[in-house]
Amino acid sequence: MSPALKRVATHAFEVAYGQPPQTWVQAPGRVNLIGEHTDYNDGFVLPCAINFGTVIAASPRPDPVVRVVAADYGAEVDEFRLDQPIQPLADGAWPNYVRGVVKYLQENGLPLQGANLALTGDVPQGAGLSSSASLEVAVTQAFKTLQRFDDLSPTDMALIAQRAENRFVGCNCGIMDQLVSARGEAGSALLIDCRSHETRAVPMPPDVAVMIVHSRVRRGLVGSEYNTRRKQCEAAARHYGVMALRDLSLARLQANAGDLDGIVRRRARHIVTENQRTLDAAEALAAGDLRGMGLLMAASHDSMRDDFEITAPAVDQLVAILQSAIGPVGGARMTGGGFGGCAVALLPLDRVESVRQAVARHYRAPTGESGTVYVCQASAGAGPLT
Ligand code: GLA
Repeated sequence: MSPALKRVATHAFEVAYGQPPQTWVQAPGRVNLIGEHTDYNDGFVLPCAINFGTVIAASPRPDPVVRVVAADYGAEVDEFRLDQPIQPLADGAWPNYVRGVVKYLQENGLPLQGANLALTGDVPQGAGLSSSASLEVAVTQAFKTLQRFDDLSPTDMALIAQRAENRFVGCNCGIMDQLVSARGEAGSALLIDCRSHETRAVPMPPDVAVMIVHSRVRRGLVGSEYNTRRKQCEAAARHYGVMALRDLSLARLQANAGDLDGIVRRRARHIVTENQRTLDAAEALAAGDLRGMGLLMAASHDSMRDDFEITAPAVDQLVAILQSAIGPVGGARMTGGGFGGCAVALLPLDRVESVRQAVARHYRAPTGESGTVYVCQASAGAGPLT
């Protein structure tokens, strides 16, 4: 993570509280290589944590008060008490991510003490790179570190952060973002079984770059489309009498549509095929088979565009530009919840410059803006920052 974040958090802390912080923690954002919208269907995902994230400077305080200063929001301050019910502020307000996490840490039975916090982060917002999960997991980590909650496992942290997002912020997301932010491993992607929460680190081949390109098409996940997709998936699972679409085979989906609505059936087909692609991709990546990865990423993008209908024309265009600039030695697809945001590409390191140039030359968002290119490292999950 950029050392500048620690400086910014420290400065904001010192200005707000008049003394240096006792400790610092970080939690990363993530990019999903493949496995989109499969997490809330109990399926498989293959994300990696990235070297963009949230840093919090923190100190305990003697009274039951949490005071938070947000360096990236003009040093805006939020303050709430731990001995009174914690309420959300207006929809979309940044303090809700902090308040929600604190509420569910308490509900988990943890005896929270007061704290002074200063937050900053560099995950682009509204880009599908999990800026909110990074913030939620960082807040969880701050209390874990301050109060030495050594028994609070990274998976527990992720579940608490997810609960905050589901019940406090109002987005019915799955577990992927919070889990990889809490459990990411440097140099590896993480194959996650979203039913058992088991993970397997899949090392990134050393000569491969993870490129993220922001399409500059803004997206909002709390919006209705995400929750609609989720309901359609649940309807398909009910139709086939399975607990979740993870349990539906492609053969059954193809053989027996019955009176299932055509749109719902296509949604289910995306999930069933995407789960298999994700498992295949973990094998391909582990074997350093970039060509195989590229084919799977392309098929994933097509399925998101045609069956799940979560891409946007500009993002389709961006992915096509990336795919043709990379050729058969890697791949690209939209990443994240959809309706805009970023494309992710895997490519040999020595192609980074030519692909960057192709994006600069050929891609324009509907607003006329160019795409922003980030080359990332697969990074470690949340923890104290020294
Ligand atoms: C968002 C959600 C995740 C996941 C993705 C789509 O990032 O927070 O839980 O569903 O969308 O794969």
